[in-house]
Amino acid sequence: MSGQGLFIAFEGGDGAGKSTQVRLLAGALEELGREVVVTRQPGGTDLGAEIRNLVLHGDHVSPRAEALLFAADKAHHVDQLIRPAMDRGAVVITDRYTDSAVAYQGAGRDLGAAEVHDLQMWAVDSLLPDLTVIVDVTADEGRRRRGDVHDRLESEADTFHDAIRAHFLAMAQGSPERYLVVDGTLPPDEIHAAVMGRLTASGLLGGGSA
Ligand code: TMP
Repeated sequence: MSGQGLFIAFEGGDGAGKSTQVRLLAGALEELGREVVVTRQPGGTDLGAEIRNLVLHGDHVSPRAEALLFAADKAHHVDQLIRPAMDRGAVVITDRYTDSAVAYQGAGRDLGAAEVHDLQMWAVDSLLPDLTVIVDVTADEGRRRRGDVHDRLESEADTFHDAIRAHFLAMAQGSPERYLVVDGTLPPDEIHAAVMGRLTASGLLGGGSA
């Protein structure tokens, strides 16, 4: 599935605290002697940064165009950054991946989760993370933490964010071997410990942790 490297995605609603967890995990894995590549979607490449600007900070984007722009970001990102890093044995940690599209465009925008999933899998040439961590907070809590509205999607109503949250949880429930759901209201260190515990228990740190 992922060659020599290790591929970990963090997902969750806006304001869930993913970025803190990405940082903590990257630091811990570097201490174990691994090369760690931290990235995010959209926007992990130069082209992706332009797509991010268009899709999050531009004028209205129609739902299908939105889905295609997020897919284009991922296609380029996987080809240019993620696959090469994994091929040389690095750990890639991404802040959001394909499940964000399935939840936001598929469930949130009502484009159909199955269709958006297929589009995403085509874009990333079927590359799946070894582990996806869902940092779970309610829509209400996410809005409280975000404070001022930042982008087009963050400014959507709580019903949109509720649908997204429900979809993330359903995806995790459907494939528990590929997901870890953590309560985003726990202290960051506790969440981080749960992530490390899961990686260790699954044997995913095997080669590089000795
Ligand atoms: P973030 O980088 O601050 O998390 O913001 C990215 C926003 O883009 C967030 O609201 C989720 C959204 N998004 C999608 O709607 N579809 C996608 O495929 C991805 C990667 C992000």
